[in-house]
Amino acid sequence: MSLPMIPFDAEKIKIRSVYQSQELAHYIDLPVPSEKIKQVYGDELRFPENREDRPYLFSSFVSSIDGKLAYADKPSAFYVAGKNQLAGAGKDTDFWILNALRGVCDAALIGGNSMGTDPDYSMHCMDADIEEDRIKAGLSRVPLNIIMTLDATDVPLDHTLLANEKVPVLMITSPAGMNHVRSAYKGDFLTVSGQEPAELIREKIQGAVPGVLPILVTGSEGFPDTTESMRILKGIGINRLLIESPGYGNYLVKQKMMDEFFLNISGVYIGGGDTMTLGKADQGFSAEAHPHTKLMSIHIFNEYFAYFRYKFNYEFI
Ligand SMILES: NC(=O)c1ccc[n+]([C@@H]2O[C@H](COP(=O)([O-])OP(=O)(O)OC[C@H]3O[C@@H](n4cnc5c(N)ncnc54)[C@H](OP(=O)(O)O)[C@@H]3O)[C@@H](O)[C@H]2O)c1
Repeated sequence: MSLPMIPFDAEKIKIRSVYQSQELAHYIDLPVPSEKIKQVYGDELRFPENREDRPYLFSSFVSSIDGKLAYADKPSAFYVAGKNQLAGAGKDTDFWILNALRGVCDAALIGGNSMGTDPDYSMHCMDADIEEDRIKAGLSRVPLNIIMTLDATDVPLDHTLLANEKVPVLMITSPAGMNHVRSAYKGDFLTVSGQEPAELIREKIQGAVPGVLPILVTGSEGFPDTTESMRILKGIGINRLLIESPGYGNYLVKQKMMDEFFLNISGVYIGGGDTMTLGKADQGFSAEAHPHTKLMSIHIFNEYFAYFRYKFNYEFI
């Protein structure tokens, strides 16, 4: 099964930088030097120095001006940008940014609900130029696709992502999730408990033959241990992890672990209490103790689409 690519035209989708924080100049990690990224974004995508204890964690989301991540009648994420009739090619830049971030990460992570709303979901870089730059920089063609789930009951186990042998996949779940996979998954799998020596963990996950799904089981009952899972991911060489799951992304913010958000604002208003927001299923932070964010950069395409990069600050929690 081949992976779909998109012929992103740099001239048509390029965006203008209107603000850049001084702090970005101190970001020294340039994982994938890329002319294409410079042409569209005006600069390379750089990150701070690697952490020792876990991967650097960043998300890429698109929202309406009222903070909605999807329409109630069309729950797929792609419509928030795609149905902005005034954005012109700016809506393609939105999807390009997600793909550029896929191009520079070691792994990308999604949850079961998004797989349910998008039957073709696959976290590979659809920009062939950046994919080539990524390979030149010594990264794998396709980042490790991680499916994160509490108990696996919401994961469509017949999804194309699990059947596509061109995409390296890792599921992370709890012991309850493992039991569910054992009884409901029709394909082959192998389990990693995280208690194995680091070298064996790496061998099991990275050496899994195509068609065999490695499953990392951490935590207890129906709750995987995120700190432990992140430590293991770091141990197998995941330095930059792109979080595409709103639900799990919110959990990482709650844990004070999310480092950055790339947040694209589509100039549409969605409204409604029945629509998808970040942390929808969760209790919000209090007025006294909540995360703050520092604006790292702003780009715009036209009056109808803007692209923000934020760094989280948890000092007031
Ligand atoms: N606008 C955008 O940029 C954008 C991007 C992506 C998706 N979306 C939209 O957002 C919706 C889906 O978002 P969602 O948040 O409902 O679903 P999701 O991100 O697909 O799923 C959340 C996942 O996180 C798992 N999870 C939550 N807390 C966890 C924890 N503490 N440890 C481990 N796993 C944990 C859940 O496990 P369980 O399944 O076991 O509960 C679930 O698999 C869809 O409408 C999609 O189209 C919008």
